Amino acid sequence: MQNMTPRHFLDLDSIDADTLRGIVNAAHAMKRAGKAVPEAMRPPGADNAILVMIFEKPSTRTRVSFDVAMRQLGGQTIMLNHTDLQIGRGESIADTARVLSRYVDAIMLRANLHETLNEFAQHATVPLINGLTDRSHPCQIIADIVTFEEAKGPIAGRSIAWVGDGNNVAASWMQAAVQFGFELRIACPESLRPDPAIVAWANDRKGRISITDSAEAAVDGADCVVTDTWVSMGQKDAERRKALLKPYAVTEELMRKAGDDSIFMHCLPAYRGNEVTAEVIEGPHSVVFDEAENRLHAQKAILAWCLGA
Ligand code: CP
Ligand code: NVA
Repeated sequence: MQNMTPRHFLDLDSIDADTLRGIVNAAHAMKRAGKAVPEAMRPPGADNAILVMIFEKPSTRTRVSFDVAMRQLGGQTIMLNHTDLQIGRGESIADTARVLSRYVDAIMLRANLHETLNEFAQHATVPLINGLTDRSHPCQIIADIVTFEEAKGPIAGRSIAWVGDGNNVAASWMQAAVQFGFELRIACPESLRPDPAIVAWANDRKGRISITDSAEAAVDGADCVVTDTWVSMGQKDAERRKALLKPYAVTEELMRKAGDDSIFMHCLPAYRGNEVTAEVIEGPHSVVFDEAENRLHAQKAILAWCLGA
């Protein structure tokens, strides 16, 4: 019999703040522990556990970091593109989730539509992890908080400036601002503002979130400046977005407004010359490769929690 109340990791608004802080702390500890995860940090459920990963969109970091993380925890992985599954020929998500739950110990899904993830979650009887949807990217933000804290200390009370598209990654940053108690200043064009439902959720919880069309105002004195690609996977209107977002490029001049001690983050993949200049991403403020590495440590902490740590 499978576990009937699985620990899904779907979004940062559906897990309580103490649990999320515990996952971030565990990610810091996983990093200190290195490749050989000590017995005490491995949930009993991880031994020989199998994670199946399903990708409806491309991935480098999420794919490889989850694969390595699962192996370092003592488990194994199966990697599938969605076209490998019978879903492509019309089998329902509900049936797929129920069948996979009979074989494996956890499922990670990168889906085009967030609704696909939600439907999967309703029917999966093993933990389901959101590996990015059109709505959110919670695993990324666990790694980002680890990265921020390594560079700057505890994130509570600090200020993060998001500059660019109000996209899926921005949505998870908004949820994190509430759950981890930091200030988030979003600068984006009027027509690319973040999901109003998530803004409303954050406002209801008195989240310190502001939205402006001025990149300069958002970054002024911020501890961290974050951006992301102007054209997310699956978006068709690349030229319109690039034109709208041109004033939101993170340049050295913009970083100077943040201040000498500010760090620069980007979940990658990055498009130099669009959302960030080569000088900034390769420059002294940039922590993007620590951030990418921290995906591995974050995935281990997320998997350990899902599997019962
Ligand atoms: N940041 C991130 O999720 O990268 P991938 O798309 O390569 O997984
Ligand atoms: N916003 C980007 C993130 C990639 C990791 C996308 O959805 O394509």
